[in-house]
Amino acid sequence: MLPAPPPRAIVAVMSDDALLVWRDKFPALNDCVHLISHSLGCVPAQAFDDMQEFLDLWRTKSITAWSDWLPEVDRAAARIAKIISAPAGSVIMHQNVSTIMAVLASCFEYTPERNKIVYESLMFPTVSYVWQAEQRRGAQCVVVPSADGTTIDTQAMIDAIDEHTVAVPMSHVIFSSAYIQDAKKICAKAKSVGAHIILDCYQSVGIIPLDVVDLGVSFACGGSVKYLCGGPGAGWLYVRPDVIPQYAPRVTGWFGNTAPFAFTMPEQTYADNIWRYMGGTPAIAALYQSRAGQSIIGEIGVRAIREKSLTLTSKAIAWVDELGFTLNSPRSEAQRGGSVVFDFTGAADVCRELNRRKFFCDHRPGVGIRIAPHFYTKAEEVELFFAELKKIRSGSGR
Ligand SMILES: Cc1ncc(COP(=O)(O)O)c(C=O)c1O
Repeated sequence: MLPAPPPRAIVAVMSDDALLVWRDKFPALNDCVHLISHSLGCVPAQAFDDMQEFLDLWRTKSITAWSDWLPEVDRAAARIAKIISAPAGSVIMHQNVSTIMAVLASCFEYTPERNKIVYESLMFPTVSYVWQAEQRRGAQCVVVPSADGTTIDTQAMIDAIDEHTVAVPMSHVIFSSAYIQDAKKICAKAKSVGAHIILDCYQSVGIIPLDVVDLGVSFACGGSVKYLCGGPGAGWLYVRPDVIPQYAPRVTGWFGNTAPFAFTMPEQTYADNIWRYMGGTPAIAALYQSRAGQSIIGEIGVRAIREKSLTLTSKAIAWVDELGFTLNSPRSEAQRGGSVVFDFTGAADVCRELNRRKFFCDHRPGVGIRIAPHFYTKAEEVELFFAELKKIRSGSGR
């Protein structure tokens, strides 16, 4: 039997976890048990001041605020570049991954000889929607199945990629199971046949150390909503420097122009740097909102976060086993991302009640409850979460 969870009052003094020094920067954590960072990272206190700064600039400087606002795009991109080990000038900000995928899809032309788009069946649906629509333009999507609903066989991905393949828009970490794909191996095959890897890093950025150069991907993307604690609207796109000038996205806008304020007509003259992948007016407020979370993750360093995450997700798996639930994420640390997914009869209702009681988690159909500790999580909170879950299942109220 696992030890009984401690009463809440003594939780604060029990931990000697060094990363907890950052917890004070997230006062919202005092009012809940927050195990939902795979879906929505906790809001940093600093974000309130940063949003105020954005509004103050608007109020006091009106149109001239743009001289402060516009550089925020490159500043946000530099924060992301640090986290994903990307070279300077290889990252641009966008609103979300769906838009980024549409921009990238608009880079490619399909011919009968080269028209394949390869990705896994466990991909986040929004990405699939974009690439399925490309079939109207001549693409042929090949969706690699999962044998167990949790993992994707690396060899099956490799075998599906051939000289007919244009691009492989794959998830680094599967959203519904936290399974880590072997992006490096798959990328090596893609490179050998002249195909591009587009790595969706939404479920890995901020929780698994990322080195986009070492992985060798042509493109990588993600957002700031989850482990980056940056809220919605601050998506990001990395393009390998040698690939940047190779494409002229059809989904474009005036901020992708070499001189947006020259207002040239009628055709686009693409910027010769990463801004050529930009569209219309950037969502500046989201960049202010995301600043604190991205900065904190960059300062802590993802290696330390990963170590702690593995310890706490192992603890959660021990509880899942103890309670006899079905584990729907990998046991192996090498294959496991930041979340733990588990199921039992009635899990959706229990999840709803946990959220009502401010034990934040989520539920996905077919796989069950997802939880994710982060650098600010106390080990004791994992115990409290499962204790509460047990109470709910046994009918105890609150
Ligand atoms: C792997 C992955 N990709 C993409 C998304 C979201 O895409 P978008 O930024 O377009 O909302 C999510 C979750 O929200 C995700 O988990």
